[in-house]
Amino acid sequence: MVEVAVMGYGVVGTGVVQVLAQHAEGLSHRAHEGIHIKYILVRHDYPEPPMMGTFTRSFEQILNDPEIRIVVEVMGGLDPAYNYVRRCLAAGKSVVTSNKELVAAKGADLLQVAKDHNVNFLFEASVGGGIPIIRPMSQCLAANIVIGIAGILNGTTNYILTKMFQEGVSFQDALADAQRLGYAERDPSADIEGTDACRKICILTSLAYGKHVYPEQVHTEGITHITLADVEYAQKWGGVVKLIAEARRTDSGKVDVVVCPMFISGESQLANVDDVFNGIMVRGDITGDIVFYGKGAGKMPTASAVVADVIDCVKHLKARKYLYWADGSPDYVADYRETA
Ligand code: HSE
Repeated sequence: MVEVAVMGYGVVGTGVVQVLAQHAEGLSHRAHEGIHIKYILVRHDYPEPPMMGTFTRSFEQILNDPEIRIVVEVMGGLDPAYNYVRRCLAAGKSVVTSNKELVAAKGADLLQVAKDHNVNFLFEASVGGGIPIIRPMSQCLAANIVIGIAGILNGTTNYILTKMFQEGVSFQDALADAQRLGYAERDPSADIEGTDACRKICILTSLAYGKHVYPEQVHTEGITHITLADVEYAQKWGGVVKLIAEARRTDSGKVDVVVCPMFISGESQLANVDDVFNGIMVRGDITGDIVFYGKGAGKMPTASAVVADVIDCVKHLKARKYLYWADGSPDYVADYRETA
């Protein structure tokens, strides 16, 4: 039996606990070992925790328990997640996270700590919700030079734009719906201002090119200024507006990364990626275009990706897996205007 701690019990955390409980038997077959949640770390202001013994408010209890081999971080944000994750890795525990802010800001550092301590740091859920994309980028497409990545990487904004286009719903009403459905971030400005999509394209670009692309290096615009008039105008020209995150390899060997709303022709595959779905197109020099599509946000799709990583950690407790990129140089990302 492998003992696991889950840090965070919000939308994703409750989904992870639910999947691990409901699918316990099947999961232990796939992992070749039983998986048991020993602790769930909850915030200090959490109401009197039920199931005392599993719920804890003490990170130190998790860190200092040698039985805990795998820690799932689903708290979100950088503080205290970065400190907790780094200390868990340094203590020889593998970590699984859905936290794109953490991976986008600190991925190179945390991957190095994981490498130094021969443990795993996995983050399949950080991009694309339930869509398998981290493994394909880091493993399955490894033989390719990645020519470009273009995608709809934020479910909340895609949901909002779809509602505006298809039903004429106002921006604010559509956002309120997305929050109610558990798609939006705790602070939804990260969604609507493009920050969340920016973090995700940084992760994919770092995986594709082997050096850390930081969010501060990326020109980012959100959808807050998109109006119903823009929607009508795009429709008149036979297309839609989508929040696109794009990375392109330039002739000089740099990478252009940009996040902004774009007009998408009705003929593009991305034009038909609606609702909370994400669509990610990757162009490899050997494979040509590959498209990944599926639910990009929400409790259960995200939990699916987290639990898959937990299984992988259980199967690789004695050896580190494959994810890695190095800290990048500041001029690695080209200013998108150079080639505009
Ligand atoms: N707020 C994010 C989104 C959640 O809407 O895509 C999934 O990362």
